[in-house]
Amino acid sequence: MCIKSALCFDPVLAKDDIYLFPLLKPEVSIQKLYQQIVVCFAGNNYSLLKSSPAMENNSDEKIYYPSQAVIEQANVQEYEKLYNWSVENPEQFWAEQADSLKWYKKWDQVLDRSNPPFFSWFVGGKTNIILNAIDRHLENANRNKLALIWEGEPGDVRTFSYHALNREVCQFANILKSMGAKKGEVITIYMPQIPEQIIAMLACAKIGAVHSVVYGGFSHEALADRINDANSRIVITADGGYRRGKVVEMKSVVNKAMELSPTMEICITVKRTGVDVYMESGRDYWLHELKALPIAANKCETEQMDSADMLFLLYTSGSTGKPKALVHTHGGFSVYTSTTHRMVFDIKPEDRYWCAADPGWITGHSYIVYGPLMNGATIMLYEGAPTYPYPDRWWKMVEKYGINILYTSPTAIRSLMRFGDSWPNRNDISSLRLLGSVGEPISPEAWRWFYKAVGREKCPIIDTWWQTETGGFMIAPLPITPLKPGSATKPFFGNVIDVVDEKGNEVKNGEEGTLVIKTPWPGMTAGIFRDPQRFIDTYWKKYDKQGWYLTGDSAKKDKDGYFRIIGRTDDVIKVSGYRLGTAEIESVMANHPAIAEAAAIALPHDLKGNCIHIVAVLRIGYTASKELEHEMIMHMVEHLGPIARPEEITFADQLPKTRSGKIMRRVLKARALGLPEGDLSTLEE
Ligand code: PRX
Repeated sequence: MCIKSALCFDPVLAKDDIYLFPLLKPEVSIQKLYQQIVVCFAGNNYSLLKSSPAMENNSDEKIYYPSQAVIEQANVQEYEKLYNWSVENPEQFWAEQADSLKWYKKWDQVLDRSNPPFFSWFVGGKTNIILNAIDRHLENANRNKLALIWEGEPGDVRTFSYHALNREVCQFANILKSMGAKKGEVITIYMPQIPEQIIAMLACAKIGAVHSVVYGGFSHEALADRINDANSRIVITADGGYRRGKVVEMKSVVNKAMELSPTMEICITVKRTGVDVYMESGRDYWLHELKALPIAANKCETEQMDSADMLFLLYTSGSTGKPKALVHTHGGFSVYTSTTHRMVFDIKPEDRYWCAADPGWITGHSYIVYGPLMNGATIMLYEGAPTYPYPDRWWKMVEKYGINILYTSPTAIRSLMRFGDSWPNRNDISSLRLLGSVGEPISPEAWRWFYKAVGREKCPIIDTWWQTETGGFMIAPLPITPLKPGSATKPFFGNVIDVVDEKGNEVKNGEEGTLVIKTPWPGMTAGIFRDPQRFIDTYWKKYDKQGWYLTGDSAKKDKDGYFRIIGRTDDVIKVSGYRLGTAEIESVMANHPAIAEAAAIALPHDLKGNCIHIVAVLRIGYTASKELEHEMIMHMVEHLGPIARPEEITFADQLPKTRSGKIMRRVLKARALGLPEGDLSTLEE
């Protein structure tokens, strides 16, 4: 162990180093010092709490019981009996839930199972998710309730009542209509986390257009691929957004993407930062200028949709280089997200609920925007980094807005845990009642920190397991559920989920196996956009005899029926909870002139959960060097986006392959970790 001074900014931090914070010189502002420390820590696998003895004494098997106060006010008071009934009567269970929503016309059939795996829910029903997310609130006391509290990273605040949200959505919807937007048309959204991102999504849904939100961490090429795949004609963006005190440009990325997208005709841009952007006449429009025109009227009819009509596409990574667009629909998605959100997050009319994900991912779609708005909740949205300008930015906002429920990711929890308890401690965060986690397995250590330092041992940790494909929570506790750190506990109502072996036999308790879902649920994706065969091959082929959905995850179940997710078994890498495909990474890498061949593997990372490690074979004439490694890292950032930045690139003469030519990533991973290479019988000589 070594003692270092924070002001030396030594980039080589070791895990057990202790830092001294020296007295400040007058010319160094406190803010600057903290920012530099934040930057300094953030770049390293450093955990202040790793060495905390109090933490290490805890056993993972300890059961944490919710407090009487939490239990007494829970929306659902009993699990086992209702679960058993729900899986015996799933259609009745879901019909009862659907009944609590408004419909233009009720369904004729709850579930059509005639064409598996294309299950259809609430057949014959007429609805629009906006009918429940906005319209019905205008007729009751929610009209004047805050729908959205937004804080920008620089500290600016905007709030919208349901009445105001409706006005903004109507104006945006009328603008889209004036641009010729039609029911069923795919509109691409590439935006920072500002209110207009949500308003744009809702406006698309209102007129029956299909939104395709592309996460802002993707490059112009990745954006263009997604625009082209969807044949999108309209894109909505902003000049940029704020992140860690800097402007992240977005319109300039969209401009480059549009050059690669022949179908692109119109770009609507929100002025957020004031950075200079290039606007082309006849193609580019500022939102504020459009809003000043008479076309942007305050009223707009909500389009009546069939239950099975598309609500949105969301691109996600899979096992081939081509990203796939998963389809979610108005009917089933409405019922599933509103029900799961109400029961699992126990939403109360007076709650202020904050899901600190990006609306650009499924978590944002289901549990920032649609589920909570359907439940008439007040939602919080924050634009920037959790540690800017100091590591208590989140805790400050919890206190300032009186947040009751905070839903985030293990990566965010780990990144805040590094700064220790003093940051949450210096704010009054006692308004918190429930905490949530999603996106990757949460280690018992991070779970306990979240529970103790943030939840003050009174807030259950709602660890929710689900996927872009599932639309909503599949395995998750209710507030009344006894908890085991690192376990998402038990299946949500109506869902039969199991851990099985290759043949489909249930594995013994405590043994690792494949996680499968055995029954249909209303939130399930309706398929991959224009590629039904890929949908069947990816999710349903492996257990086609049984008709089970393959999740791509491995898991264990214990004697109490609690699930513990271990991780992906396919070629998907989860970096900071973001989902990336090895094939997508490798195909971008292979476009670099120096690369003959490359393999991407996931290696464990203290902060990100996993990081991308690339093993590259160079073309003749190129020599491995630090400069070349850096150039290749920047190549990835430029062509796929900053979220795909590899942690390290190593060079090899060849890649281990099977006789049929498949790269054996398992062997590369074992070599990188210094572990036994396992069965090599299929390795090509
Ligand atoms: O591997 C599982 C992991 O995230 C995958 C789904 O990723 P994505 O479609 O991007 O959706 C993330 C947000 C729902 C899963 O296959 N995952 C998600 N939640 C958990 C999790 N792993 C462990 N525990 C979780 N709570």
